[in-house]
Amino acid sequence: MQAGLPARGREEMPDPNRFASVAQLDGSPRRRYYTGRDLRRAVAIADLRAMAHRRLPRFVLEYLEGGAEEEATLAEERMAYGRWRFLPRQLVDVSQRSLHTQLLGAPAALPLVIAPTGFNGLFHRQGDIALAQAAARGGVPFVQSTMSNDPLDEVAQVPGLRHWWQLYVFGGDEVWQELLRRVEAAGCEALVLTTNAQIFGNREWSARTRASPTRPSVPTLLDAALHPRWVATTLLPHGLPAFRNVIEFIPREHRGLMQSAFWIRAHQPTSLSWQTLARIRQRWRRPLLLKGVLRLDDVRRAIDAGVEGVVLGSHGGRQLDGTVAALDLLPAARALVQGPVALYVSGGLRRGTDLLKALALGADAVLAGRAPLYGLCAGGSAGASRALEILQREAHDALGLLGARSVGELGPQFLAAPLSCEDPASTRKGGKK
Ligand SMILES: Cc1cc2nc3c(=O)[nH]c(=O)nc-3n(C[C@H](O)[C@H](O)[C@H](O)COP(=O)(O)O)c2cc1C
Repeated sequence: MQAGLPARGREEMPDPNRFASVAQLDGSPRRRYYTGRDLRRAVAIADLRAMAHRRLPRFVLEYLEGGAEEEATLAEERMAYGRWRFLPRQLVDVSQRSLHTQLLGAPAALPLVIAPTGFNGLFHRQGDIALAQAAARGGVPFVQSTMSNDPLDEVAQVPGLRHWWQLYVFGGDEVWQELLRRVEAAGCEALVLTTNAQIFGNREWSARTRASPTRPSVPTLLDAALHPRWVATTLLPHGLPAFRNVIEFIPREHRGLMQSAFWIRAHQPTSLSWQTLARIRQRWRRPLLLKGVLRLDDVRRAIDAGVEGVVLGSHGGRQLDGTVAALDLLPAARALVQGPVALYVSGGLRRGTDLLKALALGADAVLAGRAPLYGLCAGGSAGASRALEILQREAHDALGLLGARSVGELGPQFLAAPLSCEDPASTRKGGKK
């Protein structure tokens, strides 16, 4: 159990950070993350996470943190970062160094993209706009989800934003065609087609907070009432946020909040195929990225289908459980993805050093989901900015400690072969030999 995180009835749950945080002091005095409200005192993403845990009711936390079934993929994504180890170079002049890069042909301050996440209005009032503002301030793109809560046109107004749109295919072809028309008109730069969520992941911990698919349980309601700061700042101003970019495609009788989410889930065609991608490719001429790829032959097919980028990832461990970690596919995927096609990875990024590992393994950028969300939950747009600042500072320092000056210098020469897949906790206890 990790020191300091408020434990609310889930003490037995393994902490997904435990493998990356090996130097823990057991016993007394207990180490504690910062859980107050002063964002400047959050020195790591883990502090923003602890602040978020304190502010959010249980059912929101389950939605934010949870993975599918045993949460094996979720843990694997953190463990994968822990397995790769740096080989730092000494006596290199690193007085001038930079993390600046190009993403889809335009400059970015950091090789990072704020990943699409649905239902951001549950974390903070105007959550999508808040994340978009943080992305614009931090000089990185923001991907708005089909299941976002703030209207596309309002997000598009955020000054200086590099605005990308994530598409879930649902309903008939006319729905995505109309969405793409609007997305284009709003000036979105790129489209991210998510392919690994046509069947909704089996997130049991989230389901346990509800009495029925659409109704919260009594303990869930009581627990929410015990979080007055969240109720006052997120719930009371507008009530629970609607999926405003898609609500009109849903029949009137299904437009209640949870009903609409379930209606969309039930109408995501499981027939989605490479032919659908070909039709979308034909319709969308700006950069198109395929998100949710976890096999090398699919990387190959995506390139053949003419996409501008591939995002390796498992949806943050929320879909199929028990998959490989996308990070481990990077070296082989890099060998396939050449030239102008972008190779991105998502899942498990919590540190600047994680970012450098992904880049050294061949990623052009990482899509970060929960890390900026912890910031959003802890302190709105300023909190999301704090998350980006922390990641930027950590990565900038680690780049120097590694003996490198730029993103372009990073490569596999800075990494040792991964450690064995064994769970270090059970090895310590002598459980596994
Ligand atoms: C709360 C939450 C909601 C998400 N919603 C979406 C979504 O609407 N569309 C999508 O393509 N991915 C979605 N994802 C997956 C993220 O885009 C990203 O792949 C994942 O969060 C990466 O893992 P990380 O959270 O460890 O960084 C969601 C993830 C989280 C945590």
